[in-house]
Amino acid sequence: MAERKPYENIHVDNADGITTVTLNRPDKRNAMSPALDEEMLDCILKLEADPDTRVLILTGAGEAWSAGMDLKLYFRALEGNPAGRIKAEWTTHQWRWYRLYNFPKPTIAMVNGYCFGGAFTQLIACDIAIAADTARFGLSEINWGVIPGGLVSKVLSISMNYRDSMYYALSGESFGAADAERMGLVTKVVPAASLKHDVMKLAKHLSELNPEAVRATKQAVKTVRDMSMDQAHEYLMAKSGQLAYRDKENGYATGIKQFIDDKTFRPGLQPYTRKAPAKHGAA
Ligand code: ACO
Repeated sequence: MAERKPYENIHVDNADGITTVTLNRPDKRNAMSPALDEEMLDCILKLEADPDTRVLILTGAGEAWSAGMDLKLYFRALEGNPAGRIKAEWTTHQWRWYRLYNFPKPTIAMVNGYCFGGAFTQLIACDIAIAADTARFGLSEINWGVIPGGLVSKVLSISMNYRDSMYYALSGESFGAADAERMGLVTKVVPAASLKHDVMKLAKHLSELNPEAVRATKQAVKTVRDMSMDQAHEYLMAKSGQLAYRDKENGYATGIKQFIDDKTFRPGLQPYTRKAPAKHGAA
């Protein structure tokens, strides 16, 4: 795994191609301070190119996934410090959206508890979100007299419909995991007791897939969202060509051979057999 400087506000763990990053301020419910954001940006930049990271899991220590922006250190402490505020805003949005949303490998939000305010940004940036049935969510900005700013109001539209996002943003009411699943904010809810096990099982599955096909698929699904039909068609043809060029395992030919000639697999039942699962960098 890539060499890292020691972190104080996050914890990074890696095993079998799966890297778990834990926001580690449990006594502050993993609220995001500028120091935490600096560490997260440093960490995620390294993990992008880390060959030992094939899947990234984002979770929180203790009772919270993240209680949002740190009201004391991110907001109050930077009042009257415009340069500090600009730097803090740049840093937090870099890791929570631009790096995480575009991370070249699958990302899973393992939502173990409270998820409030600004934490919706990294929740929605993750490809998949699995929540404990005890998790609690809230667009609580209105309670502080601020809007769901940063990127929250914008990214809500990716995974919540207009009625739900407007209702919860305006009312500031918190809601449980079952409602989050019903609204499409999280992919699936599982019992709190099995959250880690269930997420690890999913991560293992993702880590064993053809990494180039996985990378191209997530880029394709994300990128076509804002394209016209014609643009999407053209882009997807070009993306398919890029995948064929980048895929050193030649997964397409291997799969076709195993299905048609060897009759050794059926795609509805299991993935094709990869000869030498490659370590996946971000080149
Ligand atoms: N910013 C700074 N500190 C926080 C935050 C936060 N967002 N959330 C919790 N903390 C701190 C508390 O101040 C407290 O610190 P202290 O021990 O020094 O007093 C500690 O974390 C524990 O918080 P409690 O409220 O005592 O914990 P509890 O488990 O009872 O409640 C909960 C947890 C529900 C998350 C509650 O702390 C809360 O409502 N927090 C605010 C959530 C919120 O509105 N976030 C959005 C912020 S605005 C934005 O993100 C843009």
